[in-house]
Amino acid sequence: MAAAQTTRTTGFLRTLLSRCPAPRPPGRHRGLSSLPPPPPGAWSSDVSRLPHRELYRLSIHNPDRFWGSAAVDRLRWVEPFHRVRDCDLSTGRISWFLGGKLNVSVNCLDVHVETHPDRVALIWERDEPGTEVKVTYRELLETTCRLANTLKSHGIQKGDRVAVYMPVSPLAVAAMLACARIGAVHTVVFAGFSSEALAGRIQDAQCKAVVTCNEGVRGGRVIPLKPTVDAAVRSCPTVQHVFVSQRTDNPTVMGDLDVPLEEVMTSQPPVCPPEAMDSEDLLFLLYTSGSTGKPKGVVHTQAGYLLYASLTHQYVFDYRDGDVFGCVADVGWITGHSYVVYGPLCNGATTVLFESTPVYPDPGRYWETVQRLRINQFYGAPTALRLLLKYDDGWVKKYDRSSLKTLGSVGEPINHEAWYWFHSVVGDGRCPLVDTWWQTETGGICIAPRPADEGAPIVPAMAMRPFFGIQPVLMGEKGERLSGNGVSGALCLSQPWPGMARTIYGDHQRFVEAYLKPFPGCYFTGDGAHRSEDGYYQITGRMDDVINVSGHRLGTAEIEDALDEHPAVPETAVIGIPHGIKGEVPFAFVVLKEEFDDDSLVILQQLRELVASKIAKYAVPDHFLVVKRLPKTRSGKIMRRILKNVAMETADDLGDVSTLDDPSVVKEIIEAYEQHRKQEDKP
Ligand code: PRX
Repeated sequence: MAAAQTTRTTGFLRTLLSRCPAPRPPGRHRGLSSLPPPPPGAWSSDVSRLPHRELYRLSIHNPDRFWGSAAVDRLRWVEPFHRVRDCDLSTGRISWFLGGKLNVSVNCLDVHVETHPDRVALIWERDEPGTEVKVTYRELLETTCRLANTLKSHGIQKGDRVAVYMPVSPLAVAAMLACARIGAVHTVVFAGFSSEALAGRIQDAQCKAVVTCNEGVRGGRVIPLKPTVDAAVRSCPTVQHVFVSQRTDNPTVMGDLDVPLEEVMTSQPPVCPPEAMDSEDLLFLLYTSGSTGKPKGVVHTQAGYLLYASLTHQYVFDYRDGDVFGCVADVGWITGHSYVVYGPLCNGATTVLFESTPVYPDPGRYWETVQRLRINQFYGAPTALRLLLKYDDGWVKKYDRSSLKTLGSVGEPINHEAWYWFHSVVGDGRCPLVDTWWQTETGGICIAPRPADEGAPIVPAMAMRPFFGIQPVLMGEKGERLSGNGVSGALCLSQPWPGMARTIYGDHQRFVEAYLKPFPGCYFTGDGAHRSEDGYYQITGRMDDVINVSGHRLGTAEIEDALDEHPAVPETAVIGIPHGIKGEVPFAFVVLKEEFDDDSLVILQQLRELVASKIAKYAVPDHFLVVKRLPKTRSGKIMRRILKNVAMETADDLGDVSTLDDPSVVKEIIEAYEQHRKQEDKP
């Protein structure tokens, strides 16, 4: 791949924005932004001033008052809601702010343009250090409106689904907000996913359009994106247009469906009346892995999601007006949705869009960025910290990090070594470090230490305390509630909260089965947790067949489905095993048809390519072991526990194997593993 070329987007944004007329005074054109701000309600006058502990108590005992006043005061409504919530966790009927109408893009843009149009909304930290682009709230509103008008002029209407296949950039944010403005539903697909994975998501959501870039730029490399989209849309008859942004100067072959995004946007008006959306209309779908082979389209709606993202953003990170908020996640994941885009923008923050990698051009990249952009909150994944702490601390210390006030960790358990390094080396021991636990389905942070709670101690490497409105319960093996402290069980949340997913797109039954049926009356997270003697929560990991590779969630069944497509492979089993930097990596046990035994090396290479092409490169198993058969119970269920013991070299302690159909299979697999290790050790 070629090294990164000079890019055009900066030029485009500047040209585009310099052509924009002066901002209109608020209220000159009809639309939501012309409405007067709501009168101050209970939230600002009394609720928000309560100490945290009391706020939490109120949120649990009187959720209607807590969330109702927060929604009135923090969001701008076109029509007020008449009921705070109507939820039944046994059927999955979850509605918040009933009857209310609002527009999310107005809450993220117009309201701030009225008060501080020239505040920087986005700092696009591009791959090449020192080439950042700043976009003000006024500029972002205008760019969003031009993009919204572009979508509208190509027939995209309220309720239509639009796939966004782009790395993080101002145009990716504008594409999300443009959908929100016109009432279309965006589904951002991480730009590292393969064409098949993209196609599967477009088909499931029946997207009418795709917004993409010609290429991405990351770690000094140019990554082709348009060819991936071209291959995907060939099997997606619902797609009528592909809007292509030019991230680089390299020429792009344009086909019948393709629309040059910047070119068309320039001729569109910079004003677009916002659609009045019902609180419970869909805002976005985000596909995530579950325990079956098919990713689920998690559905988030308008008001509840936005309110929850903004409240958590403010309280968990102690965000203060004027702070520069640096979340280094990609917009392709929920962290990017809630803490790069919606939470910070709803709060009028300056939010950083980080396009690069933690080690480009060197391992000081994050901290050089902190110094240059004067970042106040830094939110990242443990996997990057584990990678960085292996380098000399000088890579951190040489940069000025005095702007930092809060550090945050997300996506996977943070080990003690990474926590202490982040806290003491990066934060010089003076910044609260919050381990935040949440999920795509929860919409926002659910368990975190909450540094704004003055004086509350933070226990290292622990998510600790539930956020407002979150009531964690731990369940035992028989479905009983575990009371008291010092207990471990299945982590459930027993009260609905406004940010929670409403359903799985097109499959409400799957939503109910996966989250609400396992422990009736509660939302089951799929994670296990321990409640310490002090009553704090420690996440102990997934209880299902979902693994977490470098903070990316993967279903082992998805990988198995991809492997099983190979004609030489009748059966596979994939498990996750610990990895020093990535957290976990997939380990695949593969059964080959007898006639292919001699070709195993070739086949394994084909299997790697198959997984990369069906899912993504990060899903390719780090380890493969060819076995004659898999350990199964008499009812035919694969006993993954045994495979895990073998792969982690703890086979001395296999536990009960009496339910195996043929226990001799264990010896066979151990021998295959030992043989494999011997070959690996050969020079
Ligand atoms: O297992 C938990 C783990 O990541 C899962 C959610 O993954 P995803 O939906 O991709 O969202 C990631 C970003 C929020 C959870 O079920 N996880 C997330 N945060 C933590 C965590 N595990 C331990 N500690 C955390 N702080």
